[in-house]
Amino acid sequence: MSAEIDPFHAIGVSVVAHELKAQGRSIIHMEFGQPSTPAPKAAIAAAHRVLDSDPMGYWESSALTARIARHYQETYGVTLDPRQVILTCGASAALVLALAATFPAGARIAMARPGYVAYRNTVKALHMQAVEIACGPGERFQLTAQALADLEPAPAGVIVASPANPTGTILPPDELAAIAEVCRARNIRIVSDEIYHGLSYAGPTRSMLEYAPAALIVNSFSKYYSMAPWRLGWLVAPKADLARCRAYVGNLFLTAPSLAQHAALAAMDATSELEGNVAVYRRNRELILQALPQLGLSEIAPPDGAFYVWADVGHLTGDSLAFCKQLLRDTGVATAPGVDFDPVEGRHFIRFSFAVSTPEVEEAIRRMIPWFAAQAKKASQPA
Ligand SMILES: Cc1ncc(COP(=O)(O)O)c(C=O)c1O
Repeated sequence: MSAEIDPFHAIGVSVVAHELKAQGRSIIHMEFGQPSTPAPKAAIAAAHRVLDSDPMGYWESSALTARIARHYQETYGVTLDPRQVILTCGASAALVLALAATFPAGARIAMARPGYVAYRNTVKALHMQAVEIACGPGERFQLTAQALADLEPAPAGVIVASPANPTGTILPPDELAAIAEVCRARNIRIVSDEIYHGLSYAGPTRSMLEYAPAALIVNSFSKYYSMAPWRLGWLVAPKADLARCRAYVGNLFLTAPSLAQHAALAAMDATSELEGNVAVYRRNRELILQALPQLGLSEIAPPDGAFYVWADVGHLTGDSLAFCKQLLRDTGVATAPGVDFDPVEGRHFIRFSFAVSTPEVEEAIRRMIPWFAAQAKKASQPA
């Protein structure tokens, strides 16, 4: 029997947003973490060159896997055999690959709640069990080593995400090390989603590979490299798992898109352009953090990285999906309902993505201030 999984409600919000746009409304898309900055110029130029000169085929670029391995050496001081880097259709496919190739059906996989919608649903789609650990503001909505140590029975695996979606919070190095230690002691395999590395406003991010060499690492060109529609990501697998992972990737996905691989190789050296993008998101973050008190939103997780703000709107609603739809209809600002990321507490949270342009952030704030004030007034009136 196929597994029942929840829809990604933000997609539903986005569909309405596009309908409204088609009717001529001005829409600001803050529902997805999709960079508004374009793919690096060098990546686009490389793609043009290849299109004009190379018929292409099923292919995994050894130049790109070697370049990614070099990135681990330079950024984290971790030495990889380039064969450990498996190119995939985005982090989404890398996550499917990591889980499917490592765990049997029925395996218990722990994860933070709130967490990225696809963790819970991919685990379920693969007939495994999602073990959600409730993480509140006290632990900045992040997993702790203690929570993993206390979990009985020990899960087969854990998905760690830092910076996290929907909060942007980062696990400090000592907590990453402590999580690695608990997992080593309890024989828990780690899948570390590092898709938001590079998008950090609070100093460098550390890779779980620095603490747990047997971890499976999921990453992508979608965020820092600003190439989400090119659908290219990667999995770093330990040597002991390589043959199985290669068998799975070959059968489930064949290869990642060839054109994207050529472009991504050029993107990896576009550092000044990419850091310019980070500066845009840093500015957007500042603007939105400054505006939150004017929206009456004080209960937020401090977004150390990524491009999200996870805000408690419990004083205004107990139905975040209806709230997001109303906000969209009234102001044209699309956001993601908390229920996507937390099926329990998410009824009173929403997620803003500040991956849009800076003028769009400014305009969204301008539209939302009176709207939130009206909602607060409504909520304070007796029913
Ligand atoms: C935490 C996280 N992991 C994985 C993904 C999937 O990314 P992609 O398949 O575009 O690489 C996303 C997308 O937003 C994400 O937020």
